[in-house]
Amino acid sequence: MIEFTHQIPTKIIFGPDKLGQLGTELAAFGKKVLVVYGGGSIKRNGIFDKAVESMQEAGLTWFEQGGVEPNPKVTSVQAGADLCKKEGIDVILAIGGGSVIDCAKGIAAAAFYDGDAWDLPTHKAPIGRCLPIVSILTLAATGSEMDPVGVISNKDTEQKLVISNPALRPAVSFLDPTLTYSVSAFQTASGSADIMSHIMEDYFVDGDGSMYMLDRIKEGMMKTVIHYAPIAIADPTNYEARANLMWTSSWAINGFTGALCNCEWTNHMIEHELSAIYDITHGLGLAIVTPRWMRYVLDDTTAPKMKEFAVNVFGVDASLPDKEAALKGIECLEDFFFNKLGLKSTLTEIGIGEENLEVMAKKACNGKETLNGWRVLTPAQIVEILKACL
Ligand code: NZQ
Ligand code: ZN
Repeated sequence: MIEFTHQIPTKIIFGPDKLGQLGTELAAFGKKVLVVYGGGSIKRNGIFDKAVESMQEAGLTWFEQGGVEPNPKVTSVQAGADLCKKEGIDVILAIGGGSVIDCAKGIAAAAFYDGDAWDLPTHKAPIGRCLPIVSILTLAATGSEMDPVGVISNKDTEQKLVISNPALRPAVSFLDPTLTYSVSAFQTASGSADIMSHIMEDYFVDGDGSMYMLDRIKEGMMKTVIHYAPIAIADPTNYEARANLMWTSSWAINGFTGALCNCEWTNHMIEHELSAIYDITHGLGLAIVTPRWMRYVLDDTTAPKMKEFAVNVFGVDASLPDKEAALKGIECLEDFFFNKLGLKSTLTEIGIGEENLEVMAKKACNGKETLNGWRVLTPAQIVEILKACL
C-alpha cells in the first residue's frame, strides 16, 4: 500500500549573492551563533567574510569551531558541544560540505546532553532537544543541507555511525551554486557519485518500496547527474551544471524519493565501514562498491529492475533480454564513475587490501545477522562483494 508522511520544513534560499539575508535568518533564533567550518576553504574563497559581514549587520555575536575533518570525528562534535554550553549558543551556522553540516548536527544534539557525545550515535542515550541549524552549503553531495541525518566517526573505535532526528534538519539552508565553483574535480566527482548512490539505494527496492511516479523522477535525477557532473568537472564555473548538481543533491536524500523505501542502504552500510577504518572519501568508496554489488545481486529476480535502470537511465536497447540489458547498464555505470568522472576503480588502487574484509562485512550488518537491503546479504556474501572491489 502506498502511504507515507511527508514533511520537509527546511527553508531553501537558492542562488548567488543571498548571504545578505543570513544575519536576519540567524537572528530569528537568537543572538549567539556558533560558526562551524572545515579545513579552511571558506576562509580562502571569501565565504566566511561574507557571513561575518551579514552577522555584524544583524548585531549578532559569533564563536568559531573550525577544523572539522572530512568524515567528521566525535572529538570535534564534543568540542563544539562544550563551547555551546559554555557560551550559551542559540543557533549553529554550518558553512561547508556534508562533513561540516553533519558535525553541526552532532553538536546541535550534544549541546543539550550532559554525557559523552558518542552516546548519541551509539544509542546509549536518545537525542532530545537540539539547537537549530542554519547551513551554507559549499559542496553538492550528501544532501545534509536538507535531511535529518548526520554521520559521525570515532577514530578510537573505528566506527562511523548515523544520528537521525527530525530536529536535525537544518531550519534554513543557503544553496548558492557559485560557492561550489572552487570544489576540486575529485570532490565534484565523488560528490556526484554520492548523489547517484542516494538515488540508486532508493530505486532498487521491491513492492511497496516502489512507485511509478517516483521511479521516473529518480531516473530523471540520475540522468541529471550523469549529464552535468562531467560538465562541472571540465568547466568548474559552469553555473547551470553546478546548480543542477546542487539541487539534485538536496532532493536525492531529503525523504521525497525515499518515502516508500523499506530496506537498508546496502552500499552505504558497506562504504561507511571502509571510511570508518581507512578514512576514504565517501563518494569514491560508493563508486567502487556499487557496480560490484549490482553484479553480485543480479539474478532472475533483480534483472527486470536493473534492465529498467539500464534502459531508462543509460538508453540501453530495450529489446535485449533482461540480464543482458542489466549487465550493459552496469557497464555504463562503471564507465560513468571510472572514465567520465575519473574516479579510481578498485580498493587496491586506494591502498586497501584484504586485511579487514571480514571485520568490515560483519560491522556492515550493524549488530544483526544480515544486511537487509534490496537483497539480504550475509557477512560472507559482503566479503565476496568486497573481494570483487580489490
Ligand atoms: O574542509 P574544507 O576546507 O572546507 O574542505 C573540504 C574538504 O576537504 C572541501 N570543500 C568543501 N567545499 C569546498 C571545498 N573545497 C573547495 N571549495 C569548496 N567550496 O571538500 C572536502 C570534502 O568535504 P566533505 O564535507 O567531507 O565532503 P562531503 O560533502 O562529501 O561530505 C562527506 C561526509 O558526509 C557523510 C559522509 O559519510 C562523509 O562523512 N554523509 C552524510 C550524509 C547525510 N548527512 O545525510 C549522507 C551521506 O550518504 C554521507 O554518508
Ligand atoms: Zn552517501
